[in-house]
Amino acid sequence: GESAGDIGYGKIILLGEHSVVYGRHAIAAPIPLDIRAEVKPQRDHIDLMIPRWGVEMRLSEPEPAISSLHASISLIAERLGVADRAMRIEVFPRVPRANGLGASAALAVAVIRAMARCFAVEISEREISNLAFDCEKIAHGTPSGIDNTLATFGRPILFRKDSARARPDIRDLATPRPVPIVIGLSGVATLTMQTVGHVRTAWQNNPQRYESIFSQIDELALAGVEALRKGDLAELGELMNIDQGLLNALQVSSREIEDLVQIARRNGALGAKLTGGGGGGAMIAVAEADRTESIASAMRAAGYNTFITEIR
Ligand code: MEV
Repeated sequence: GESAGDIGYGKIILLGEHSVVYGRHAIAAPIPLDIRAEVKPQRDHIDLMIPRWGVEMRLSEPEPAISSLHASISLIAERLGVADRAMRIEVFPRVPRANGLGASAALAVAVIRAMARCFAVEISEREISNLAFDCEKIAHGTPSGIDNTLATFGRPILFRKDSARARPDIRDLATPRPVPIVIGLSGVATLTMQTVGHVRTAWQNNPQRYESIFSQIDELALAGVEALRKGDLAELGELMNIDQGLLNALQVSSREIEDLVQIARRNGALGAKLTGGGGGGAMIAVAEADRTESIASAMRAAGYNTFITEIR
């Protein structure tokens, strides 16, 4: 059934997407949406099934056009030393595809766990995250490492990549009270590779200008750690609103995201911004618990899928 299997966590980035690719801090937290995977040995072939996404692939046969999904799963089998084994990989996503909620990293983590379990391969949590990072490189080009970290560990963190050392700087975050979050789905699929690529081109053309935007976002993320520590939702909301302004400066927002942000703010959100790569994808709003339902229903009335969660 769909409750069985090994898990990779979906995530939201509260503050710091994009600038995190350039060595700045970002805050991320898991969401109840996850991806589960099951791997069973079979007679011949390696088959990958993701019924909900309409994916059915035979990985043991070369494909006319190798997809990043095909390449990622093949890499996992190779690294775990089981590429010559026949298996059926089944994936049950509860995270929408390409929606800024970390589905690709969650999928990689779930498949790594399930494949390792099936063939009794020992692998540490750190190694799972590192292997998922290599899969993310196939899908996204230059990932910061925040998605695979969250997908593996599934708890709120302050993240900073450290290019001088091989491993990122990861600190656990605690809040004295749950932080209510409304997530709005723009319904527009987004390729993180594209928005990250767009920002990279802009940065290459004018490094000073963009470095200064990244540093401003960094300050917001660090202030966000304090706001979370105090449980100060109003302050957190303000930081998110300013961050959305800077993400706009990076031109990674979209018409639907702006619509969702306005709906959230008009209906009592303390702050709202895009989350993840942008260019479509998802929006998050922070609000007092007694406002979340009316924010969510206003989004639904405007035709968007939405759900309520909390950071704890
Ligand atoms: C994607 O969830 C977050 C980005 O900052 C890319 C990355 O960190 O790899 C846009």
